[in-house]
Amino acid sequence: MNVSGKTIVVTGAASGIGRALVRRFAADGAAALVAADRDGDGARAVVDEITARHGAAVRCVAERVDVAVEEEVAGLIERTERALGPIDLFCSNAGIVFEGGVETPTAEWQRIWSINVLAHVHAARVLVPRMLARGGGYLLQTASAAGLLSQIGSAPYAVTKHAAVALAEWLSITHGADGLRVSVLCPQAVRTAMIAGTEEGGVAGVDGVIEPEQVADAVVAGLADERFLILPHPEVREYVQRKAADHERWIRGMRRLQERYTRPG
Ligand SMILES: NC(=O)c1ccc[n+]([C@@H]2O[C@H](COP(=O)([O-])OP(=O)(O)OC[C@H]3O[C@@H](n4cnc5c(N)ncnc54)[C@H](O)[C@@H]3O)[C@@H](O)[C@H]2O)c1
Repeated sequence: MNVSGKTIVVTGAASGIGRALVRRFAADGAAALVAADRDGDGARAVVDEITARHGAAVRCVAERVDVAVEEEVAGLIERTERALGPIDLFCSNAGIVFEGGVETPTAEWQRIWSINVLAHVHAARVLVPRMLARGGGYLLQTASAAGLLSQIGSAPYAVTKHAAVALAEWLSITHGADGLRVSVLCPQAVRTAMIAGTEEGGVAGVDGVIEPEQVADAVVAGLADERFLILPHPEVREYVQRKAADHERWIRGMRRLQERYTRPG
């Protein structure tokens, strides 16, 4: 898919990767963009920036939406399609992270599950039937390399990002032949608010921290090829291959990484 002339929704658009996607899609000639975020002021600031830069060439709308709430996602899609026409590309990008293991309270597991996984279900539940009825459509789901490998220090993040990858795979397998396109975005560390303060000396920086604009470059290239797996850090492909080739060895290697980044001093 070439984003030029398309109607596109991005969640988590007030910051980081989502904001970079909105900027890049506007620069590449998207016809209409919806910047959705639970931070309504942040979404508005992104829209103001796009309007100042591109004027009437891009219709850009801010939406204050909590993607964890099914009715809010459904309302976002309904309002967008009524005002701007069919959504060509929906980017389920909003996500959260926090540290913790199985001691993490159930309410916190449910909160991250709702944002990192169910938000993608909420969007797909409304959009997939509509996209199939009109012969096609595109879903971009931001997961993480943690959804293919693991996340040192955060069981809830590793688990929910694996589930996000699994959902994207399932949607592509089930509906690909009927015209639904699905891509899953799996970066390692990206310089955004999410990892602020952990880049230096932390596990986030192992393979280098890239900029959100580099992620947007990878997304545009991946969409152009209609590639399922978008890997802004190319080394992730090799890690996934090593994991598949010898799981025991991979677990031992991950233990060494874990030890390196959790040992005091
Ligand atoms: N930064 C990284 O290193 C990295 C790496 C891999 C994957 N990711 C993923 O990329 C996505 C974007 O993260 P980012 O790094 O740009 O982080 P970020 O914190 O800069 O941006 C996330 C945005 O999502 C919004 N958001 C959070 N919960 C929401 C909700 N319930 N409803 C609506 N909006 C909500 C936030 O307000 C924020 O604007 C996330 O899914 C994240 O897991 C990030």
